[in-house]
Amino acid sequence: MRQDDLLSIGEVARRSGHATSALRFYEREGLVVGERTPGGQRRYPRSVLRRLAFIRAAQNVGLSLQEIGRALSALPDGRNPTAADWARLSRVWRARLDEQIAGLVALRDGLTTCIGCGCLSLRRCALANPADLAGSSGPGARFLPPALRRDRPGA
Ligand code: FES
Repeated sequence: MRQDDLLSIGEVARRSGHATSALRFYEREGLVVGERTPGGQRRYPRSVLRRLAFIRAAQNVGLSLQEIGRALSALPDGRNPTAADWARLSRVWRARLDEQIAGLVALRDGLTTCIGCGCLSLRRCALANPADLAGSSGPGARFLPPALRRDRPGA
């Protein structure tokens, strides 16, 4: 790759908004791939900026770094991913993103109705969840989709 297509870690941090410590972490985790100058300095292809934008966007809609890593591993190393590569990733992610979208919609709508959490605090609960019947099917807000009830280790 031509030298001028390569960015320093500082340039990537400034343009992407990620801390240099995060970039080193993502490189250790294999989420981004960099190379070294003869002096040992990190250099990244400009295409890393798109990967970083996806990492941040995916995290913001609740995808874990493991999920993101699995999806990004579908992209080729050693060359800039093409639109076709990203389209393939998009197909892989479509079902997961649709699940997140459905979850966000349910959360938005659930704020005004009973979510089956056991609180019995809304007038609607008496009808939708009499005597916390929903609790018999398991913990958490039983009327919210599984994507919103998932345990988040370390959260
Ligand atoms: S909102 Fe909590 S039980 Fe209905």
